[in-house]
Amino acid sequence: MIIVYSIEDLKKELSLIKESIGFVPTMGYLHNGHISLIEKSVKENKKTVCSIFVNPTQFGENEDLEKYPKDIENDINMLKKANCDIVFIPKTSDIYKENKVFVDILGFSDCLCGKKRPGHFKGVLTIVCKLFNIVRPDRAYFGEKDYQQYIIIKKMVKDLNFDIDIRIGDIIREFDGLAMSSRNSYLNEEERKKAVFLYDLLCYAKKNAYMGQKRIELENKIEKYIIEKIDCNIITKDYANIRDGIDLELKEFISENSRLFLAFFVGKIRLIDNGRLL
Ligand code: PAF
Repeated sequence: MIIVYSIEDLKKELSLIKESIGFVPTMGYLHNGHISLIEKSVKENKKTVCSIFVNPTQFGENEDLEKYPKDIENDINMLKKANCDIVFIPKTSDIYKENKVFVDILGFSDCLCGKKRPGHFKGVLTIVCKLFNIVRPDRAYFGEKDYQQYIIIKKMVKDLNFDIDIRIGDIIREFDGLAMSSRNSYLNEEERKKAVFLYDLLCYAKKNAYMGQKRIELENKIEKYIIEKIDCNIITKDYANIRDGIDLELKEFISENSRLFLAFFVGKIRLIDNGRLL
């Protein structure tokens, strides 16, 4: 596996590749969710590039940019094992040199995490757009856990005419159902135990959903479950909303595209999850 630290060196390496390139952008502190995307890319492309870059523009002022977890050595070992070909670890100054241009989206990002984290998706789209132009992949891979991010990136690729196939990889879960996330490492023992609440809620919603059901009816049931089961000392709701998985709109009735989107604070740590209802 080749490790490169500058755009210039990456471009040199990429110019030698004539076959298909799969790309997995990450912020590092890799877990098996990321590795499943690398494995998918390795299967579907001749070469796989992974980037590790903690992107400052997608963090709000009071968010965890400064203390975002890092373990580059372990990341590199995991990527080697997964047969990644190139890992790109750029410096912030190289990526955001005198940056005056940003990419943003109308609609799509004014709900769910977009509403709760203003400017977040502008930062994500800007970095993904830059990385796409640097790496010029044939296919790029994103995790289902960040489903809104996946939909927004697909829309950017369509509207800005990128010739890149955006693929999604399933949520990878811990033994008890908690969705894997780099942020799980912040949880203390008790918070970690309680964090399974998000998955339990998802399972409850799936069990109680049916085709043609009124969305409001199911949302009311979910709300009741939250009030009854939540441990208020440790967990607080940020949102629990049902939206359409294609356009993220609110629909009156539950269909095969309906998804439940969840964001909860467990202690001080904000965790998200989502899943299809039918
Ligand atoms: O999903 C992430 O880890 C990040 O949002 C991404 C896509 C790497 C952009 O910084």
